[in-house]
Amino acid sequence: MKFFIDTANLEDIREAKSLGILDGVTTNPSLMAKEGITGQDNIYKHYKTICELVPGDVSAEVISTDFEGMIREGKALSEIAPNIVVKVPMIKEGVKALKWFSENDIKTNCTLVFSAGQAILAAKAGATYLSPFIGRIDDIAWDGIALIEEIAEIYAIQGYETEILAASIRHTLHIVDAARAGADVITSPLKPLMGLLNHPLTDVGLSKFLADHKAAEAK
Ligand code: G3P
Repeated sequence: MKFFIDTANLEDIREAKSLGILDGVTTNPSLMAKEGITGQDNIYKHYKTICELVPGDVSAEVISTDFEGMIREGKALSEIAPNIVVKVPMIKEGVKALKWFSENDIKTNCTLVFSAGQAILAAKAGATYLSPFIGRIDDIAWDGIALIEEIAEIYAIQGYETEILAASIRHTLHIVDAARAGADVITSPLKPLMGLLNHPLTDVGLSKFLADHKAAEAK
C-alpha cells in the first residue's frame, strides 16, 4: 500500500518524507487555501515546490466544472512537473475529462467519491486513482471502510486497474482499516500517519532495555 500525505503544508510534507516511507502527496483547493496560497501563479509555484520535494505522484485539483475548462487546467497542471496527477471531481463533465486524460496519457485522481457506482464509472473512464472520502462518509453515520471493501471487491472481480486511494482519513485506525479493506493507497494528514508509530509497550520496553543496559555498564 502506498502512503500519500494529504496536505499542502511544506513542513508536514518534509516531516513525513523524513520517515522515508512517503510515496506521494494529495492536495485540494481547501488545503491550498488553508496554507494561504492564492492566485494561479502562486498556486502553480506551490505545486512545483511540492513536486520537487516529493518524487512520487502529487495530486493537483482542477477548479473548473466544465469539460473544456478541466482539460485546459489539467494540461496546464500536468506541465508543472512530470509527477503531477490531475485531480478531477466525480461529476458528469469530470467523467468525460477522466476519459480524455486517460487517452492522452495524463494521470488522474477522481475525487469526491462516495459510492460504488461512482467508483465503477471512474474506473471505466480510466482514472489512475479513485478517492473515496471515508471520513466524510463516517461523518453522516455511514461506513467509509465498508465502501473501500465494496470497491476493492468490484475492482478485483472486474480487473479494473484504477488504484483505490482511501481519502478523508481522520484518525490512525482509518489507515489500518483501509489497508485491511484493500486500499492501494492511503492519503492522510500528518497526525494520523505519525500515530501509526505509537504503542505504550514500545515506550515501556525501550525504557527498560536502556535502563538495563545502563545498569549493567555501571557495574
Ligand atoms: O483527500 C481528500 C481530503 O482532503 C478530504 O478530507 O478531512 O476534508 O474530509 P476531509
